[in-house]
Amino acid sequence: MNYIEVETYEELSRKAAAIIAAQVISKPESVLGLATGSSPLGTYACLVKAYENKDLDFSKVTSVNLDEYVGLTGENDQSYRYFMNTNLFSKINIRKECTFVPNGCADDVKKECREYDERIESLGGIDIQLLGIGLDGHIGFNEPDEVFTKETHLVDLDPSTIEANARFFPSADDVPKQAVTMGMGGIMNAKKVLLIANGKNKEEIIKKAFFGTITPKIPASILQLHPDVTVIYSKN
Ligand code: GLP
Repeated sequence: MNYIEVETYEELSRKAAAIIAAQVISKPESVLGLATGSSPLGTYACLVKAYENKDLDFSKVTSVNLDEYVGLTGENDQSYRYFMNTNLFSKINIRKECTFVPNGCADDVKKECREYDERIESLGGIDIQLLGIGLDGHIGFNEPDEVFTKETHLVDLDPSTIEANARFFPSADDVPKQAVTMGMGGIMNAKKVLLIANGKNKEEIIKKAFFGTITPKIPASILQLHPDVTVIYSKN
């Protein structure tokens, strides 16, 4: 594992964007696994800047996102589809039809999950997967559990996740209680993994996940088994 500690969120964002940029430059038709949450916002802003400076071309890139809330359409400003459109896709030259986010409003969720995994497979897998980490160690929405779940699946969100994400909603009651998330198979099959985290409140979980026991009770700990993972952490 390549573990990097930096001083500021800006430095974290520049470094993470540089790693993704290198991927897109060396393989223009890359499949990028993308994440939401507050952690990647700076990284996306750096990628947009690189695109505006004509240093990056996303015209051949495909993206697959990790997760989506159940019951929110892409027009809902709290959906992860909306987040991606607003913070990245609308600001770069990626083809909209080559951006994939699980459909949280699918009538048949099981089918949606199966088709999401089939899509990732048909794309040849993910070249680089960007991840944040939840305070309970979740990646995507793979919550602490007795087992690691391989496939894309429906999850009941942990009360602590609902509380942590309530800051984006009018109240905790408005946070969806379920989500569809890529499973550990999709994440672990990515050729490279890049996890970013910032803030003093993430220090403990970073230590547990990357320097402690590998256990489904701390979902991110499985990444210790991945052959090419970079973790960038900034306390500030
Ligand atoms: C959310 C997302 C995760 C994200 C995590 C951390 O629940 N599903 O993909 O990594 O929480 O979010 P933040 O970066 O805002 O701390």
